[in-house]
Amino acid sequence: MPDRGFTPTQLAARAAYLLRGNDLGTMTSAAPRLYPHMWSWDAAFVAIGLAPLSVERAVVELDTLLSAQWRNGMIPHIVFANGVDGYFPGPARWGCRDLAANAPLGMQTSGITQPPVHAIAVQRILDHSRRHGRTTRAIAEEFLDRRWPDLVRWHRWLAHARDTSENGRITLFHGWESGMDNSPRWDTAYANVIAGAVPAYTREDLAHVTDAAQRPTNREYDRYLWLLEEMKTARYEDTELSATMSFAVEDVFVSAVFSMACEILAIIGEDHSKPHSDVRELHYWAERFRKGVISTTDQRSGAARDYDLRGGTWIATDTIAIFAPLISGGLDREAERALLRTFEGPKFCGHPDLRYAVPPSTSPVSKDFRPFEYWRGPIWPVMTWLFSWVFARRGWAERAHLLRSEGLRQASDGSFAEYYEPFTGNPLGSMQQSWTAAAVLDWLG
Ligand code: GLC
Repeated sequence: MPDRGFTPTQLAARAAYLLRGNDLGTMTSAAPRLYPHMWSWDAAFVAIGLAPLSVERAVVELDTLLSAQWRNGMIPHIVFANGVDGYFPGPARWGCRDLAANAPLGMQTSGITQPPVHAIAVQRILDHSRRHGRTTRAIAEEFLDRRWPDLVRWHRWLAHARDTSENGRITLFHGWESGMDNSPRWDTAYANVIAGAVPAYTREDLAHVTDAAQRPTNREYDRYLWLLEEMKTARYEDTELSATMSFAVEDVFVSAVFSMACEILAIIGEDHSKPHSDVRELHYWAERFRKGVISTTDQRSGAARDYDLRGGTWIATDTIAIFAPLISGGLDREAERALLRTFEGPKFCGHPDLRYAVPPSTSPVSKDFRPFEYWRGPIWPVMTWLFSWVFARRGWAERAHLLRSEGLRQASDGSFAEYYEPFTGNPLGSMQQSWTAAAVLDWLG
């Protein structure tokens, strides 16, 4: 339990208070200043944190997100809050409303996507609703009935538009789509992006996180924004993007999450008598993407790799993404054991200098490791949560428990930071990050 700071009861109360404070009405901002809008995978985690507090409010969160779904099925990575400035690139820079035929009518969104963790949130909402009376159960079930077609459409879009070669791996056209924006996984792919003239811009993030060493560099930002210009030229059309984008990678982590999410949705569909054809398709995708993930792995170590479609090269960096097969399942016994040993060993959670035994975003022994810099080393509590949840689901109760208790020990400082320095445990990036509070609430719920 906590080695400093708050007791579990105090911590849960503070986490609930934080989510309440970040609540804009029908959406929760990802963080008060740095991220004043709704982010797709953040919203799913936020719903997971809200579910034990209020099933109704958790449903509202997902409803808001899904009402911004694009006509092709994509869930956009940002849904902009009305009348809120202070984030760049905002709606004007994305230009989706003017350029994209698939963009939703009512809401302003970005033009890319994020990891498909939403099925977990739907499952948590249904689980929590069962502990309540008829009215709350009915709200959760009515939500599922109403949104089932949208959830399937979302998964179908990923399986079709983002896996055109049907090899069971999801293609991304921007590093932001991975949710791990500046992970060293994308360094070589970005190195091949030749940024043309990018319209002038001012970074807002550096006004909130004043230590620039904790954020991506300006060079990185130029490339991020250049990719937006490329997408705008393609008018965000799925078929155009695969032909024109100078950044295109197959993300093994997203593919594994997708496989797992398809399985979860299929089970929900079975339990709630959804159309057989949907359930069959979901099971099929779960299997196709599981195989896709396994096809990237090293036979002995079980470690997974991404693939750079433009460079035609495998990407093998020692980041948290090598553990993708633990999420999707499908490795043979020996390789799975080896991969778990790596997870728990000195390259990751068992590194002797770590303050808490939780997985850093990049291995401290990697040459790419930077302890302060965003996805290049720091610990992201929401990742700890994801692995603890996955491990519990896979029947590894003890491992799940250990991650949970270490994650809670880390969170007991009460800062609910976006990410933490692995050796000192100091909070970094944005404070009062919604998904960090959500992880804590689920753990303590
Ligand atoms: C950062 C993270 C991304 C997250 C967003 C909002 O961009 O890299 O994963 O969704 O912040 O929290």
